[in-house]
Amino acid sequence: AMIGKGNHRHFMMKEIVEQPAVIGETLSSFFNPRSRTITLPDLPFDWKDLPKITIVACGTSFYAAMIAKYWFEKVADLSVEVDIASEFRYRNMPLREGGLAMFISQSGETADTLAALKYAKENGQHIGSIINVEESSMGRESDFVFHTQAGPEIGVASTKAFTCQLVTLACIAIDAGVQRGVIDHEEEARLCAAISEVPARAAEILESHVNIKNLAEKIFEANDILYIGRGTGYPVALEGALKLKELSYIHAEGYAAGELKHGPIALIDDTVPVIVVAPSDPYFEKTASNMQEVMARKARVIFLSDAAGIEQLGEHAVGSIELPSVDPFVAPILYALPVQLLAYYVAVLKGTDVDQPRNLAKSVTVE
Ligand code: AGP
Repeated sequence: AMIGKGNHRHFMMKEIVEQPAVIGETLSSFFNPRSRTITLPDLPFDWKDLPKITIVACGTSFYAAMIAKYWFEKVADLSVEVDIASEFRYRNMPLREGGLAMFISQSGETADTLAALKYAKENGQHIGSIINVEESSMGRESDFVFHTQAGPEIGVASTKAFTCQLVTLACIAIDAGVQRGVIDHEEEARLCAAISEVPARAAEILESHVNIKNLAEKIFEANDILYIGRGTGYPVALEGALKLKELSYIHAEGYAAGELKHGPIALIDDTVPVIVVAPSDPYFEKTASNMQEVMARKARVIFLSDAAGIEQLGEHAVGSIELPSVDPFVAPILYALPVQLLAYYVAVLKGTDVDQPRNLAKSVTVE
């Protein structure tokens, strides 16, 4: 069937606002909100036998892998090697027979990710993938597939596929944690409760996003924009910067806030806005002090945090985006939305082609 934009000017906005529904849809296949448990399909290995896992992807899907790394390490005590597919496929990485390699892709057709998958397969790994398109080359080559239920994603910039990948990975990490005896059922229930709130919290963010449109006006004339965060806020910063580059052609960088002093702070002056991703989590104070450092160099800060964070630091920023107070575990899923919206509104102000940015293709089927 022909897919329309509904009442929206762009597919991207339609896809952004679909997120509460499609996240819920994705969760419904393996998540029981009543019993607060996760039931995954049978997997061809035992989580307890794995000394580490490998996750490979490109672009936004790679940032989902990065976030998953923090989750698996935290709740499943499992080390995770993440890599972008174009590097992984050529660097002859030693893989121990019987390991697990997972591949994340909206399309299931990305050439480098598919080649990386084949490399892992030839090297005796169990192959799992997280794919949005029902029938795909990567799906056919995999031992098991988690299908995200984002529905067709038309905008070149990935939005809803990303957040659906994230909830899927969150559930896999929790299940791995339970199987490995790292978390008990009480902790599983607590994390599941946090996940089950995600669709409703995402809907709240979407209802109150007029503010983000106004903030876009404060930054759309910049030539360079920096995004910083720590923990899972770091990949969110990378994703924010990628989204902005793709859509608005403004040069943007995502950095781990703790790396600022190692170089990028040299860029900072009053012409370089800094987007600070800082949910109330164990990293908050550290990120807050990095925020103060960039403000001391006259950066205009846009501060993404929750009520507690904004109360503490919001007055120093040129603008704040208040997000719901949630368990830090699910924060990166929700903080993805304001960075998508900010990039969207900046692009609209610049008049660029939101759904079909120059030089980009929806799926990169040649390397
Ligand atoms: C994201 O906005 C991009 N257009 C791009 O980075 C994309 O995520 C990447 O090409 C991976 O695509 P895939 O998920 O279909 O493999």
